[in-house]
Amino acid sequence: MPEVLQLDGRHIVLGLSGGIACYKAAELARELVKAGASVQVVMTEAAAAFVTPVTMQALSGRAVYTSQWDARQSDNMPHIHLTRDADALIVAPASADFIAKLAHGLADDLLSLLCLARPAERCPLLVAPAMNREMWAHPATQRNVERLRDDGALVLGPAAGDQACGEIGDGRMLEADELRDEVIAALQPKLLAGRRVLVTAGPTFEAIDPVRGITNLSSGKMGFAVARAAQEAGADVTLVCGPVHLPTPRHVRRIDVASAQQMHDTVLPLAAVQHVFVATAAVADWRPASYAQRKIKKDGSHSAPALELAENPDILAAVARLPQRPYCVGFAAETNDLAANARAKLQRKNVPLIVGNIGPSTFGRDDNTLLLVDARGERQLPAADKLTLARQLVREISQRLEALA
Ligand code: CTP
Repeated sequence: MPEVLQLDGRHIVLGLSGGIACYKAAELARELVKAGASVQVVMTEAAAAFVTPVTMQALSGRAVYTSQWDARQSDNMPHIHLTRDADALIVAPASADFIAKLAHGLADDLLSLLCLARPAERCPLLVAPAMNREMWAHPATQRNVERLRDDGALVLGPAAGDQACGEIGDGRMLEADELRDEVIAALQPKLLAGRRVLVTAGPTFEAIDPVRGITNLSSGKMGFAVARAAQEAGADVTLVCGPVHLPTPRHVRRIDVASAQQMHDTVLPLAAVQHVFVATAAVADWRPASYAQRKIKKDGSHSAPALELAENPDILAAVARLPQRPYCVGFAAETNDLAANARAKLQRKNVPLIVGNIGPSTFGRDDNTLLLVDARGERQLPAADKLTLARQLVREISQRLEALA
């Protein structure tokens, strides 16, 4: 399946104000273009002292604007026209001075004019601060950032760490890939704004002895995609996952566990305060009845040790039994008779929605096909990458939550 371009057909205005982080803005321009966006770069005079418009033009494939007097627009109003077909305006880096300007509505150069003149209801303003830690911590900057937030801007970061000045602290601009993902997230509809969503993901690991255990082939990709999609849709997301090798989606609270019992003990206290629980984890149904404190050794008899199993708690069914239960979504990983098995699970676990998929044809892969089964019937979500499917699932869940309200 070809890679999905997350910003395909989107037009992004990338504004640079002055700061050493301008070198990361060059990378950001590239990331946005690689994700499918058309990118219009606008630079302040100070930004052009750090990276040249030539560099930014080469990376974005478009002539850069630096002046409000630029006569290329027939009516000489680039401060109006440049945002009229934009899906988002991101200022990266945003210096302390530029943030102060924005907070006060000052508009004495093209970029600050653009920010003020953009159609606010359809072109979100994202601001990525980049400055020395003392400048960031200064009450004036903090006041200005708060003012920007109140005015509807999305403030991205900053991160903490080594600074170009040699000091260490808050104020580093986020990395280009993080900013790209923030732009992608900002463009998703906020279908779950104000909702709390709890997701389980990945396999569980049931230890036999200190070096062995029972697990399965789940990679966690579907669950991580659901967590990301829910977060992008505005939800407050907690992700409880078994052993997986995946980066945590941005702004998602992640709790790592190993066994089904640990997953159960982590999920249950959190579940009652959630609006939605999505159980994508491939929880081991059984665990070794006893754990050997030391590695089990061959004893020379050539007979394998007997492995007695005990049943694990059913986390989804336990959450569905809570008096204050969230809207529960189960996954069914089957090898055959998907619809019938998914419907049986719907009833057995007493949940309103089961998402069926064929386990062996999806484990570890980036794409999947989902079958939604609920009391009303069945709906197929055709083959797509897991993030696309997760966004569709989030839409389905939000529609069901609205119908319940
Ligand atoms: N699940 C769970 N806790 C378990 C087992 C399963 O929370 N101990 C959840 C899974 O996360 C998934 C759903 O229940 O959302 C279905 O899990 P699955 O293992 O496919 O179903 P089972 O009930 O175990 O049925 P079977 O193994 O017979 O298919």
